[in-house]
Amino acid sequence: MHRVNRTGASAMAVAACVLLAAAGAPRQAQSQGAAAAASLNYDFFKSKVEPVFLEKREGHTRCVICHTTNNAPFHLVPLAPNATSWNEEQSRQNFDLIQRVAAAGVPDSPLVKHPLAEEAGGDAHHGGGQQFTSQQDPDWQILKAFVMGAKP
Ligand code: HEC
Repeated sequence: MHRVNRTGASAMAVAACVLLAAAGAPRQAQSQGAAAAASLNYDFFKSKVEPVFLEKREGHTRCVICHTTNNAPFHLVPLAPNATSWNEEQSRQNFDLIQRVAAAGVPDSPLVKHPLAEEAGGDAHHGGGQQFTSQQDPDWQILKAFVMGAKP
């Protein structure tokens, strides 16, 4: 009985170490990558990225319509009644929220890959459709540039 318990305990300790190692590795890799790249820039976000979320694309619903109300990891603050864009405080909140789907220096961030057509290198399925059919789309290029640390 005593022996069985000890074995169980050490097996658990090993499992815990494996878990810690697994959790630590990508974080380290990511912070090294981020150090080489730049950080997300708020002014670029406000002046260039937010307009992409507000713009109507042919055949698609605007990002802002779904992503202020659905439960997706990408979430934006709802616009005030009759407002056509976000104010400063709301934009700051959006900038905090966007970091759930945009990691500085990581071109595979969901913000970049998820709304891009699969044929163009994007994800297979997005509830909001393939909003960008090609990597040449200037709006998609704005999202990519933002994630890669562009400044205005
Ligand atoms: C018609 C509604 C709709 C529109 C419009 C829409 N989306 Fe989405 N989006 C969804 C839904 C639903 C999900 C969650 C399910 C999924 O992953 O597709 C989602 C998920 C996402 C995610 C999170 C992926 C993840 O799991 O990390 C990102 C990023 C995203 N959308 C970006 C955009 C962008 C950028 C636009 C505008 C160019 C946009 N979406 C427009 C419905 C929409």
